[in-house]
Amino acid sequence: MGGSVKRLAVLGSTGSIGQQTLDVVRSFPDRFQVIGLAGGRNTELLVRQIEEFQPRLVSVSDGRLLGTGYKTSSLEELASHPEIDLVVIAISGMAGLSPTMAAIRAGKDIALATKEVLVAAGEIVTAEAKRCHAQILPIDSEPSAIWQCLHGEDRKIAKLILTASGGPFRHLSSHELKAVTPQQALEHPTWRMGKKVTIDSATLMNKGFEVIETHWLFDVPLEDIEIVIHPQSIVHSMVEFVDGSVKAQLSIPDMRLPIQYTLFYPERPLSKLPRLDFAKIDSLTFEVPNLEKFPCLKLALEAGRKGGTYPAVLSAADEVAVELFLEGHIGFLDIARVVEEALEQHQGISNPSLEEVLAADAWARERVRR
Ligand SMILES: NC(=O)c1ccc[n+]([C@@H]2O[C@H](COP(=O)([O-])OP(=O)(O)OC[C@H]3O[C@@H](n4cnc5c(N)ncnc54)[C@H](OP(=O)(O)O)[C@@H]3O)[C@@H](O)[C@H]2O)c1
Repeated sequence: MGGSVKRLAVLGSTGSIGQQTLDVVRSFPDRFQVIGLAGGRNTELLVRQIEEFQPRLVSVSDGRLLGTGYKTSSLEELASHPEIDLVVIAISGMAGLSPTMAAIRAGKDIALATKEVLVAAGEIVTAEAKRCHAQILPIDSEPSAIWQCLHGEDRKIAKLILTASGGPFRHLSSHELKAVTPQQALEHPTWRMGKKVTIDSATLMNKGFEVIETHWLFDVPLEDIEIVIHPQSIVHSMVEFVDGSVKAQLSIPDMRLPIQYTLFYPERPLSKLPRLDFAKIDSLTFEVPNLEKFPCLKLALEAGRKGGTYPAVLSAADEVAVELFLEGHIGFLDIARVVEEALEQHQGISNPSLEEVLAADAWARERVRR
């Protein structure tokens, strides 16, 4: 096939995005070399990945978990290693921020799945990337769709339109939502993902995060980013241009496609991924989201508009609230309630430093746990 070999670090390799990234690598063994792998607590899978990909560097959240046969590095060492060309950030939650900053400061290009990084510290991360000439390339399917639609355009954007599946509870009443169990919330209708992002999709917090993520990635004002519910998850997002023309990116819902697009960028590879069959698509439908029924989305949009440290509080409060819900300590609708309380009690700081963002994050976690 030809082409140069890209040297990768995959952070969060044992997760849903991490494993699908390695699937793409497996399909193109002559185009990618895995130099670093980082996992959290699933060491059994990490060991299998190490045996298969033979990375030079390995990181795990607790080094003792791997046993004594392996030398481990920190996430930051791994993300900034001189032999790496592209760092895939697929660690769930704020744990992705520090290695992202380390990679950027080492001038590495980032393939970013972890949206919480841009939600909490978008201004700081994007400014640092500009200063260090590091590119932030999205993996998330909606920003990837926007990115693909903007190719060849000179940015005469009227608005960006993010699609959302609407999650599994689109048709439930507020009363029914109260009784939703973690088991039910983990059954996403169209995507197979890690637990945190699956719950965020059910509350629609995920879509609010994506609005903030998209704002930082494409430097488009928040008020020019619209959300439409599209339950089939075929249209991954759209761009409306100033002349009224709309471009959309479509594919079957399979994260390997946006992952592959990012790993290969700027090339589009010939791929064996499954294709859309229009003869089998009954209909593509679009509707407006219900902000009253899904208050997490409303909270995210408000926090995004307020800016400063509010999005960091939103993200941290949500991360802990989702953990509490999954552990059975709070109900589904309590996720929005505790996030709202944290946002109400927070004394926001405008133009925060990284330290102030981290302090706001720590404050919100502590507040919600209490
Ligand atoms: N899944 C999707 O389709 C999708 C789509 C778009 C965006 N995203 C975003 O991508 C990110 C990852 O999502 P996911 O679905 O892949 O999540 P996931 O399946 O829960 O995987 C998370 C990964 O992060 C690792 N990890 C967690 N905490 C860590 C820590 N403190 N230190 C080191 N590693 C840690 C986990 O390790 P262990 O499992 O070994 O503990 C795992 O490898 C999220 O921010 C999500 O919003 C996901």
